[in-house]
Amino acid sequence: MEFKHKSVLLDETIEGLSIRPDGIYVDGTLGGAGHASEVCQRLSAKGRFIGIDQDQDAIIAASERLAAYEDRVTIIRSNYCYMVNELKNLGIQKVNGIVLDLGVSSYQLDNEERGFTYRVDAPLDMRMDQRQSRTAADIVNGYDEKELYRIIRDYGEDKFAKNIAKHIVAARAKAPIQTTGELTEIIRQSIPMKIQATGGHPAKRTFQAIRIELNRELDVLRESLDGMINLLDDGGRICIITFHSLEDRIVKTIFRKNENPCTCPPDFPVCVCGKESKGKVITRKPILPSAVEMEENPRSKSAKLRIFERRYKK
Ligand SMILES: C[S@@+](CC[C@H](N)C(=O)[O-])C[C@H]1O[C@@H](n2cnc3c(N)ncnc32)[C@H](O)[C@@H]1O
Repeated sequence: MEFKHKSVLLDETIEGLSIRPDGIYVDGTLGGAGHASEVCQRLSAKGRFIGIDQDQDAIIAASERLAAYEDRVTIIRSNYCYMVNELKNLGIQKVNGIVLDLGVSSYQLDNEERGFTYRVDAPLDMRMDQRQSRTAADIVNGYDEKELYRIIRDYGEDKFAKNIAKHIVAARAKAPIQTTGELTEIIRQSIPMKIQATGGHPAKRTFQAIRIELNRELDVLRESLDGMINLLDDGGRICIITFHSLEDRIVKTIFRKNENPCTCPPDFPVCVCGKESKGKVITRKPILPSAVEMEENPRSKSAKLRIFERRYKK
C-alpha cells in the first residue's frame, strides 16, 4: 500500500523552527517525512537531520522520500522517548530544532491490516511499533470494566463510556473480541440510535482511546518533553503538533514550567528555590490550521501547534 499522508501545519512548523542551514534538526515522529523533507531542503551539506519513528512502514517510506539528502540524513527506528540516547550514540549532545507531529499518520489509519480503523473488519491490532507484543485485543479483552470506562471517558471523551465498557465486558464473557468489526458492533449497541444518527461514527472515540492507551501516547509525551528541551542548543526551538486536548495540555503545562520553573511562594521578595528558566514559550496561544487547510484536510481540524525556544543564561 502506498504511504499517503498530508502534513498538517507544514508552513507554520517550518517557519516556527527558524532553520539554520548548518544546524542539527530532529523529527521524533518522522511518518512519511512530510515535515522532514521541508527541513532537509533548507539544510546545507553542513547541516544534519535525524528522523525517528517507531513504525517500520514509516521508516521505509521516509527513507525513500529523503534519499536525495542521504549525505545529511540519519533515520532511526525507535520511540522518541529514547531520543537523548539515540543522539548520544551518534555523538550528538545538542540540537537546533525538534519537531513532533503526534498521533497516527493517515497511512496507519487507512491501512486495513493495522487495525486502527473501524471502517473495515480486521484483527484488533493498533500497534504503532509492530515489534511490541501487546495489541488492542489485549486491552479490550484484558482490562477490567473500570479501566475500560476510564480510558474511553478520558482518552475518547465519550459520553457513553460507561455503557460501552459494560457492553464490552458482557460480550467478551461469551467469546473473546478479536476484530475491529466485532468491537464496532458492540459500541453501536451501547449508544442510543438517536445519537448515532447525528454524531460522527459511534466507534471513533473508543478506537482513539484504545490506540492512545496501547501506544502510551500521553505518558511518552509527558516523560520525554523535559529531556527534549534540555537537548536544545541556545536559540533552538521545539515545535509540537497535537491532536487531542490532553496532549495539548501536557505540552502547554511543560512549556510553561520550563519558562518559569520557580516554586517560591508568590509573596517572596526574591527567588530562593534556585530553579532557572530554560527559555521562552513562543506561542502564548497555539497556532491553529487556516480555514483553507481544514477544508482541504479535515484531519487537521483538531491540530494545535505550540513552540518553545531554548535560551541559555548569559
Ligand atoms: C502524524 S504522523 C507524522 C507525519 C509526518 N510529520 C509527515 O508529515 O509525514 C505520526 C508518526 O509518528 C509516529 N509516532 C507516534 N508516536 C511515536 C513515538 N512515541 N515514537 C516514535 N514514533 C512515533 C507514528 O508511527 C507516525 O508515523
